[in-house]
Amino acid sequence: MKYVLVSGGVVSGVGKGIIASSAGLLLKTIGLKVTAIKIDPYINVDAGTMNPKEHGECFVLKDGGETDLDLGNYERYLGLNLTRDNNITTGKIYKHVIEKERRGDYLGRTVQVVPHVTNAIIEHIERVSRIPVDDSGSEPDVCIVELGGTVGDIESMPFVEALTQLRHKAGKGNFINIHVSYIPIVNGEQKTKPTQHAVKSVRSAGLIPDLVACRCERPLEKVTIAKIAQSCQVEVEQVVAVRDMPTIYQVPILLEHQGLLELLRQQLVLDKVVLTPALVAKGKTIWKKWNEIIPQEHADKINIALVGKYVELPDAYLSVVKSLEHSAMRCGRKLNLIWVDSEELEDKTQKSDPVAFYKAWHEVSTAAGILVPGGFGLRGTEGMIKAAQWARERKTPYLGICLGMQIAVIEYARHVCHKANATSEEFDAQAENRAIIFMPEGSKDTMGGTMRLGSRETHFQAGSEFSKLRALYGEALVIEERHRHRYEVNPDMVEELEKAGLNFVGKDDSGRRMEILELKDHPWFVGVQYHPEYLSRVLDPSRPYLGFVAASAGCLDRITKDALKEKTLVVNGALDDSKF
Ligand SMILES: *[C@@H]1O[C@H](CO)[C@@H](O)[C@H](O)[C@H]1NC(C)=O
Ligand SMILES: *[C@@H]1O[C@H](CO)[C@@H](O)[C@H](O)[C@H]1NC(C)=O
Ligand SMILES: *[C@@H]1O[C@H](CO)[C@@H](O)[C@H](O)[C@H]1NC(C)=O
Repeated sequence: MKYVLVSGGVVSGVGKGIIASSAGLLLKTIGLKVTAIKIDPYINVDAGTMNPKEHGECFVLKDGGETDLDLGNYERYLGLNLTRDNNITTGKIYKHVIEKERRGDYLGRTVQVVPHVTNAIIEHIERVSRIPVDDSGSEPDVCIVELGGTVGDIESMPFVEALTQLRHKAGKGNFINIHVSYIPIVNGEQKTKPTQHAVKSVRSAGLIPDLVACRCERPLEKVTIAKIAQSCQVEVEQVVAVRDMPTIYQVPILLEHQGLLELLRQQLVLDKVVLTPALVAKGKTIWKKWNEIIPQEHADKINIALVGKYVELPDAYLSVVKSLEHSAMRCGRKLNLIWVDSEELEDKTQKSDPVAFYKAWHEVSTAAGILVPGGFGLRGTEGMIKAAQWARERKTPYLGICLGMQIAVIEYARHVCHKANATSEEFDAQAENRAIIFMPEGSKDTMGGTMRLGSRETHFQAGSEFSKLRALYGEALVIEERHRHRYEVNPDMVEELEKAGLNFVGKDDSGRRMEILELKDHPWFVGVQYHPEYLSRVLDPSRPYLGFVAASAGCLDRITKDALKEKTLVVNGALDDSKF
């Protein structure tokens, strides 16, 4: 196993995750099998209970693990399905060590950070790096380990110590440390002092930076690079500059141009790794496609209105935004996302803040497509229902995700089935006309166990041949997507809704849970109970999003033809990287 450790100095939040995923992608393009581990030096054991306002989105993995957005980066760049074990936290490690101590596994000896906690960290990394995560189904060759926070934080000390030991254990040519630093510009001058200090503290902590990746707004000047090389005791080639790029998808290309792949090849002795020809060919295709997909500078914009609740914190919808970006790139368009606070669409705002009200309505009514994402709670839902009604009546493409699908159902029940007081049990537990009800998986009483979480099957129903979404899934009859919800369409109301023209084209395997709704005579009116954004990949955009953006951009026919063509190629074995 080869390890690429990506650590950070100076400040966090300068794109360590993107650099780490880009390095992984470059390794993948030469035919290596790559996996990734994210280390978060927090005490939290599980991200599911964390507040999206504080942490951004909760990302759901295939196994139902809830993590924050970083693992999503790896899945999107590397086309993997990771597990909850790919995220290590201080809390997880300590819990494990304390449980062992309670069981008496340490035979009553004193249990200490070194060696007990550090050993537990090393064991965890070694074990998890071997879990197959891609469709080859075999053990990865390289593991990217991203260490959260900055080296020198009190929290990260046990991890730094463990990684130092792991470097020694893995041996020469099997471990490389990319240290990400930041070069501020003060009065037009690129300052290297913070980087010098950061590298010094990395060295005193016992790690050896093999490569210093410098984030900077502008390209690094020659003298800056020379200064860093000299003061950090690395060669000039070991300094790479990562300047701000128009899109993050250009970062792998930027790094490749600076010789990162060559450097990895030498330092990790990659020529000795036995590669399978199929994966080498696949890697080449991935790289070619990656270079083709980068959006053109002058591409036409596509205006999409995102009608949601956490609009003040865009990170809460990170995967949604990424999925829209992937889809826009595939359509040759540039995404122009317009955030609309759903509460501003409500009648009460018309009186209290007419400026906000008319502005919000102007945005919704002029958008090429309207998206209502997932969410919880009552606030702002009346505004979402109004937006869904607008989209349905005006034939504007609509995509409803999770809550957004339920909103579309309530809207239909109210305005087409004439149940003026139809609502969701989540908004009003005593309501008479409950279009949406509480339908947990397992027990109603145990908190946490009530959520329907992780990968589940959806079956396309007889009579769904008209479905535009089904065509985009390559006419597959059974698909798998990731879920995270407690409420669902009331099965008792389904017949009435279907009679009125709302088609539930996809259901779960029991037929009781509604998974996909679609309107027939509409350019694109689709609601999905699952969260397709968790499976969107840069080169393989999520189908519900792709169809939505393509319909909004007026190119759905072409995109659908491509999807069906790709499908035949896959069946004939001509193109096996479609899953990427
Ligand atoms: C890993 O889990 C911890 C604890 O739940 C969480 O704080 C952190 O954000 C997670 N990290 C990733 C990358 O998912
Ligand atoms: C990831 O899982 C999904 C289904 O949940 C599957 O369709 C896809 O092929 C998997 N990808 C890989 C790389 O294994
Ligand atoms: C809800 O609507 C139904 C008709 O669809 C009506 O019979 C009922 O009285 C209404 N309930 C309330 C609380 O308004």
